[in-house]
This record gives sequence, structure tokens and C-alpha cells, in this order.
Amino acid sequence: MENVYRIFPTPFELAEAAALEIVTLIKKSGDKPFLMALSGGKTPETLFSVLGDHFGNSVSWKNVHFFWVDERCVPPDDPESNYGMTRRAFLEKAAVPPENIHRIRGEEDPGDEAIRYSEEIREYTTKRDNLPFFDLILLGLGADGHTASIFPGMESLFFSEKICDVAQNPLTGQKRITLTGRIINNAGRIIFVVTGINKAGIVKEIVEKKENVKLYPASYVLPVSGSVGWYLDREAGTSMIVV
Ligand code: 6PG
Repeated sequence: MENVYRIFPTPFELAEAAALEIVTLIKKSGDKPFLMALSGGKTPETLFSVLGDHFGNSVSWKNVHFFWVDERCVPPDDPESNYGMTRRAFLEKAAVPPENIHRIRGEEDPGDEAIRYSEEIREYTTKRDNLPFFDLILLGLGADGHTASIFPGMESLFFSEKICDVAQNPLTGQKRITLTGRIINNAGRIIFVVTGINKAGIVKEIVEKKENVKLYPASYVLPVSGSVGWYLDREAGTSMIVV
């Protein structure tokens, strides 16, 4: 299924549109559990704030289970924590049952936590093609072409037999726990949220499938039978705007 790219004038308008798609998918799911995995970093904070401020009390979150695509190996109250950012921006504003919040425990030993979290995912997900299935996975894009915590040179994590694995930010050495690529590509729907002029170059490389695109882990996101939507603000989508 072809990727669909939508470009918005501002990050806030992007966040509103992405939030609407997420809420629509949740409502379509009805009484069935809806499992979504969230990326972190700075970009999704606006989206999570819109979800919390505009939909925190108007959506029934009782069937929605929140997982994380990746997490920095830091405690939950660390400024670097993806869970901590999501809690402040969204979870504290929405009536999500505590048992539906499945955070990665960044404070634990990385190797042990990758195993534990893989088990938690096995326990809560249904299977599609014998792999854990997420209804929706939100991804970001690093300026180096990484996604989740799969950085250039770590493409083997896209083909790992594991559900989660330990990764490392090559610039800072920071350990991460990340979903592996087969789980990402098994999702029903994948949404990339990308903003900022510093991402325009990598977006262009990936969208235009330049010859060295395989240097970028984000280019390995090719859902088996799901679909990919790219939500870009005007800056990140600069190379795609035809004037
Ligand atoms: C993380 C993310 C990572 C992020 C990109 C973009 O833990 O950092 O999951 O994949 O999406 O690095 O980050 P920014 O939104 O901060 O540019």
C-alpha cells in the first residue's frame, strides 16, 4: 500500500489532524481493545497535548492500551523519559485506566527490561502472522534517518527475531529499549509525525527513494499489510511542496 503524505502549515495543525485520525481509529475499534505504541522525542509532544487537551474527556479510553515504541534507559521522572513526556502532555489529562499504560521501565537493567517488555507485549497483544499486532504505531524520524531507536548501522534490529531489543544512541552512547522492525512492520497503521526544517533533507531522501536510502532505518518501515501515513509540517515537507 502506497505511503500517503500530508503537509500542514504548522506543527499545531498537523497535531490536530493526526489526533483526529487517532481518535477516529479508536472509535472505529468499538469495544475491541485498541493497542497503540508511541514514539518519543520532542515532536509528538504537541500531538499528545492536543489529544489530552481536546479529547482527554471526550473519548472512551477504557479499551485503549498504550505501549511505547522505544524508551531511553532513564527513570520515568528523568527529562529524557519518553513515558514522562507522554504522562505530562497527555496521560495526566485523560481517563486512561492505569492498567492500560504499559511503560518501558527505563530505570531497569536494559537487557532484563527488553526481555520483560517483550513478555508484556506477548501477554497483551493478539497475533497477526504469528507476530504481536498493534493497531497503530506512531513513529518519529531523526535527522540521521533513524526511527524508533534503530539508528543507522543497526538495521539488523529491523530483522531481529526479538520483539524488543537494546539499542544505543551512537552520538550520546545512551542505551535505549526499542521495538524491532518486524513488530513495527506488522502494525495495522503506522503514522510518521515529522516537523522542522532540520528534517527536510532526510524526508526528501526517503520519499524520493534516493540510491542510498537503505542507509536510513526509517526507509525499512514497509508494513506487511498495514498502511503508512506521513504527517509533515511545511518545514519538514519543504522538498515536497510544488509551487
Ligand atoms: C526517541 C524517539 C525517536 C524520535 C526521533 C525524532 O526516543 O527519541 O522515539 O525515534 O522519534 O529521534 O526525535 P525528535 O522528535 O526529538 O526530533
